[in-house]
Amino acid sequence: MKKLVFSNGDAIPMCGLGTWKSEPGEVYQAVLWAIEAGYRHIDCAPLYLNEKEVGQALTKAFSDGLVKREEIFITSKLWNDRHRLSDVKDGLEQTLQDLQLAYLDLYLVHWPISVKLGIGIAKTREEFYSYEEVPLAETWQGMQQVQSAGLARHIGVSNFNIAKLEELFAVGGQGPEMNQVELHPYLRQDKLVKHCHAKGMHMTAYSPLGSGDRPALFHKEQEPSLFEDPLVKELSEKYAVSPAQILIAFHINRNIAVVPKSVNRDRIAQNLQAAELQLEPADMDQLLSMPKQYRFIDGTFFTGPESPYGLDDLWEGTVGMEHV
Ligand code: A2P
Repeated sequence: MKKLVFSNGDAIPMCGLGTWKSEPGEVYQAVLWAIEAGYRHIDCAPLYLNEKEVGQALTKAFSDGLVKREEIFITSKLWNDRHRLSDVKDGLEQTLQDLQLAYLDLYLVHWPISVKLGIGIAKTREEFYSYEEVPLAETWQGMQQVQSAGLARHIGVSNFNIAKLEELFAVGGQGPEMNQVELHPYLRQDKLVKHCHAKGMHMTAYSPLGSGDRPALFHKEQEPSLFEDPLVKELSEKYAVSPAQILIAFHINRNIAVVPKSVNRDRIAQNLQAAELQLEPADMDQLLSMPKQYRFIDGTFFTGPESPYGLDDLWEGTVGMEHV
C-alpha cells in the first residue's frame, strides 16, 4: 500500500476506509472486513455517530490478532462544539474513549465553524460562536496541546481554505499536517492542492465517489453522477475496473490519500485494490481537465440566515460552487 510520509517519518496509508454514513449495526462488520482485506487506515469522526461501534470493531481486531494498534492509522475529528481551548482535549478524550484507543494517529479540526457545546448542526444565532468569540487560532492551540500531550500523533484540519490555513500557520509552532477536503474529478481544487503541497501538508479526499448515500440535508436535486460520467466509464472499460476504482485511483495518482466509504464486503475489497491502479499520465490529464465542476458537500447547512459564517469562510472565493 502506498503511503504519505509525515516529517517525523510516520506514514499514512493512502487508501483508508471512510465511515461517514456507515450506520451503527453495519460499521462494526465493515471495519472488520476492511482490516481483513488489508486496510490499515480508518477515517472516523464523532459527527458520524458511530465511533463506539468502530471502537468495538478495532478492539475485536486487536484482540483477535488481526492487526496491532501500531500497524493501523486511525483518524478522527474535533466537532464544531469543542473549538474552545478548554474543550479540545475533552472532545478528543471522548473520541478516544469511544474508539477504545490511547491515542489517535491524526486528529483534524472538522470544520472552521464554531458552535456551542452539545450542538450538532446549529440553526439559531445563539447556537453559534463567532470567530470573535472563538478564534480559529485558539482552537489550533488546543490541537497543538493535545499533540504535545501525546493524545494525537499528528494534527490537521478538514474543509479549510487557503486563508484559514494561513491563520493557523500564523499561530506558530506545529502547523496543520493534513487538510481533508472534498475532491474528485468534478472538484479538483487545483489551487488549494498546490498550496497545501507547497506548505508540506498532505491532503485526503473525502466523498471521492460523490457520497450518493448522503442524508437529505446534504443533498440537492439533479446532482451529477461521477459513476455515470462518460470519461470515468470509458476509463473503467479501458483498465477493466469499476468506475469507483477509477475514481479512487485518481487521488492516489495525484499523491492524495482517499477515504471511500463502503459497508459492502466486495466493494470494501475492490476499493482497496484500486489503490494499486496506475493511471497513464494522459488519462490523468483528462480527469484533471473535466469542464464540469461540482461540490456535493456545499456547506450551506452552516451558512443559513442566522449563521455568522459565510461560504467564503469555507471555500476559495465567495461562493460554494466556485468551479475551482
Ligand atoms: P456501500 O456502502 O453500499 O458500498 P463516498 O465514499 O463518496 O461517500 O461514497 C459512498 C457511497 O458509494 C455509498 O453509497 C457506497 O455504498 C458507495 N460505494 C462504495 N464503494 C463503491 C463501489 N466500489 N462501487 C459502487 N458504489 C460504491
